[in-house]
Amino acid sequence: MNTVAVVGTQWGDEGKGKIVDLLAGDAEIVVRFQGGNNAAHTLVINGEKFILRLVPSGALNRSTICVIGGGMVVNPFALYEEIQNFKKRGIDLDRRLLVSFDAHLVMPYHIAIDRAREKQLGKRAIGTTGFGIGPTYEDKMSRQGLRFDDLIDWASFKDKLERNIKEKNLYLKAVLKAKPIDGKELIAELQKLRRLLLPYITDTSAYVAKATRDGKKILFEGAHGTMLDIDYGTYPFVTSSNCIASAVYAGGGVPPGRLDAALGISKAYTTRVGAGPFPTEIHGALGDALREEGAEFGSATGRPRRIGWFDAALARYAIRVNGLWGLALTKLDVLTGINPLKICTGYKIGKDSYDTMPPGRNALAKAKPVYEQIEGWDEKPDAARTMDELPANARRYVERLAELCGVPIAMVGVGASRDATIVVTNPFQS
Ligand code: IMP
Repeated sequence: MNTVAVVGTQWGDEGKGKIVDLLAGDAEIVVRFQGGNNAAHTLVINGEKFILRLVPSGALNRSTICVIGGGMVVNPFALYEEIQNFKKRGIDLDRRLLVSFDAHLVMPYHIAIDRAREKQLGKRAIGTTGFGIGPTYEDKMSRQGLRFDDLIDWASFKDKLERNIKEKNLYLKAVLKAKPIDGKELIAELQKLRRLLLPYITDTSAYVAKATRDGKKILFEGAHGTMLDIDYGTYPFVTSSNCIASAVYAGGGVPPGRLDAALGISKAYTTRVGAGPFPTEIHGALGDALREEGAEFGSATGRPRRIGWFDAALARYAIRVNGLWGLALTKLDVLTGINPLKICTGYKIGKDSYDTMPPGRNALAKAKPVYEQIEGWDEKPDAARTMDELPANARRYVERLAELCGVPIAMVGVGASRDATIVVTNPFQS
């Protein structure tokens, strides 16, 4: 296969970064196609920790071309900082980071609006990352947004920006009762930053379409997860972009029908940050222990993640909406020592049973999980590099998940580092 998308099947934080980084070894190009720095991928390579927010995870493979696709919303200050951080650690992104003309710019007023709205919502808050993602996508849809393309002509960019600042500051003050942003300072900073970013801006959609025609190996790196998708997720407790595999067409530039496979990433259990329904949530000491063991604190915001059992009903839903070819299971090692383990096989709502997402998105909040129990294991699986090397019960757990989900498990993560992964099938090599 030449074109492969990697998408989250849960509420984000499934460990996509590590799988993407592993697959990037076979890919010539890695493309991000949606979201912004609300995503954060943590990679541990030779004991060194890297957090990537905007730049595709392939950045660490020095020959990989990294594409920021048109479907993304990008905070230009955060992007520049990330490029500089790479440089400081000896990784140069010049000539191998391509930023789409069409990607939208996250401006400080978007961040201010995001945060002020959440504050106003109080208990009803969505629990956004506070990085201005929703307000930026709103401006894109209402055709007020500023794109990287606009940076090319400074005079016209400045004019549009000034109009936006004026309007947003009025809104911030009058409606959200929040502090307006300093427009003069922002314009001065952007005038400097613009020159530093111009060399990266290009027509990435043309580049990706040609690369597809040329048979190049391309990896599309999804951010967040299916349950955070603006259309298919647990609305309104979602992010503001499409996170499912079909978003690669609009946001990544690959023509429809040219995607060979979508690989779904699932944790061996489930987590979510922010508010919203979560049927298999574990409260109390066990949840706390898993959070510590799995270091389940947001890479972007540091917030503690909510913890739950693996949910096969949601996995089946994700498999359907993404047309998944297989699953990569991550963080199996974190479950070591927990006995028994539970797997959610479906839900009950009143007398009705469901083996996938119940119809009507609000139904999930009422869904009672149906569990089966499975024996755990005490031996650490970290050193296993084949399924046969896993502790017997860990292997049974993985096989049971594959059976319940109805797709093959292509990879299993057994530890934090890149090499702590069992690769059953690599989509680029099949
Ligand atoms: P936003 O994307 O900042 O607008 O946040 C909307 C919702 O998506 C909140 O519940 C966030 O916690 C969640 N969210 C956004 N990005 C991620 C992610 O990469 N991992 C996990 N949750 C995320």
